[in-house]
Amino acid sequence: MKDFLTTLLYFVEEKGYPLPVAFKKTKGIKKVKGINYDELYEISRLLLLSYNSLKGKRSKKVKQFLQGKYEILLPSWAREELSNYLNVRSFEGSLRYKTTWVRINTLKTDVDKVLKSLENQGVEFEQDKDVYYLIKVKDEKKLKSSEEYKEFKVLIQDKASVLTVEALEVEKGDKIIDLSSAPGSKASQIMQLGENNINLYVTDVNIDRLGREVSLLRRLGINMDKVHVIHQDSTMNSLLRADKVLLDAPCSSSGMVSNEPAIMVNLTKEKVIYYSKLQENMISEVLKINATYLIYSVCSIFPEEGEDHVLNLRTERPKISGERPYKSVNGVRLFPHINSTEGFFITKILL
Ligand SMILES: C[S@@+](CC[C@H](N)C(=O)[O-])C[C@H]1O[C@@H](n2cnc3c(N)ncnc32)[C@H](O)[C@@H]1O
Repeated sequence: MKDFLTTLLYFVEEKGYPLPVAFKKTKGIKKVKGINYDELYEISRLLLLSYNSLKGKRSKKVKQFLQGKYEILLPSWAREELSNYLNVRSFEGSLRYKTTWVRINTLKTDVDKVLKSLENQGVEFEQDKDVYYLIKVKDEKKLKSSEEYKEFKVLIQDKASVLTVEALEVEKGDKIIDLSSAPGSKASQIMQLGENNINLYVTDVNIDRLGREVSLLRRLGINMDKVHVIHQDSTMNSLLRADKVLLDAPCSSSGMVSNEPAIMVNLTKEKVIYYSKLQENMISEVLKINATYLIYSVCSIFPEEGEDHVLNLRTERPKISGERPYKSVNGVRLFPHINSTEGFFITKILL
C-alpha cells in the first residue's frame, strides 16, 4: 500500500496527472494484495486532499498519512487569504464528501420518465429545489450503470455549473457565444434550455478538447446544424455580435478540489495570478463584443479570479440562488460547505 501511494503521489506531483489518470497508471505497475480497488481509490483521494498537512519527502508523507496523522488543509497562503472571506475550516471539512449532481437531458427524454426509471433501477436521488431538471444522486456507481446514463439521457454536471447557464436566461432564437466551451457541459445545457433552437458559437483554444466537445454534443442529441465550432484563442476573439455571451473562464480550479483532489497538490499563488491575468485579458476582449450581457463564471474560490475583475464594471446580480460575493459587487458565490456544490463565482456584466 505504501509503495502504491508513493508512486501515485509521484504521478500527481511530477507529472501533474489528475487522480483518475494517476490511479490507473499506478495500478498498471504496482499491485496491492487483498484490497478492493474502489476502497484504494478513496484512500488515494484522501491522501491528495490531506497533502498540505504532510511533511517531508513523498515516502515520508505517505508513512505519516498511513499512521493517521493527517488533516484536510489548503496550502497556508490560501488559508491566510481566504480566512478574510469564509470559514476555512468548514470549507476544508466539506471537501471529503463529494456530491454528485445529475442533469436530466430533456432533449432526449422527459424529467418524470427519468425519475421513475431511476427509481425502478434502485438509484437513490433527491430532486433539486431550484432547478427542476437537476437531481442529487447518492451512489455515482449505480447511476453510471443505469440505462439513462449510458444513453446520454442524463449527465453528471455540478449544480454550480448548471446555475451558470440558468444565469444566462436563455431564450429560443438567441445567438449565444460560449468563449471557452470545451468539454461542452454548459454549451449542451444552453441548447437544452433553448430546445435546440439557439445559434450557438462554441470556441476553445484546445483543439483536442473541442473535438471531444463535438462528440459529446452529438451524443446528447444536439442539433449540430445550429452549432458553430471555432478554434481560437479568446484573448484574440474573432466574433463580433451576439445576444448573450458566456465566459466560463479557465482558472486555478480551486473550487473543484473535492471532484479533483490532485488540484490540492499543485495549487500555488503563482497559478492564481497567472489565471487572473488570463481572465482579465479574456474579459477585456468580451467588452468589445456587441451583445447585451456576459455571464462570467469561474470555478475558483479566490477573489483575484472573481470579484476583483468586476470592481469597476457595470454588473447585475444574476437571477439564481446562492451566497453573497466576498466584496461589494454584484454576483453570486457557491460553496461546497454551504451549497453542496463546487466553489464558483458567477456574475452578469452588462455590455
Ligand atoms: C473551465 S473550462 C470550460 C468548461 C466548459 N465551459 C464546460 O462547461 O464544459 C475552461 C476552458 O478554457 C479553455 N481555454 C484556456 N485558455 C483559453 C483561451 N485563451 N482561449 C479560449 N479558450 C481557452 C480551456 O481549453 C478549457 O477548455
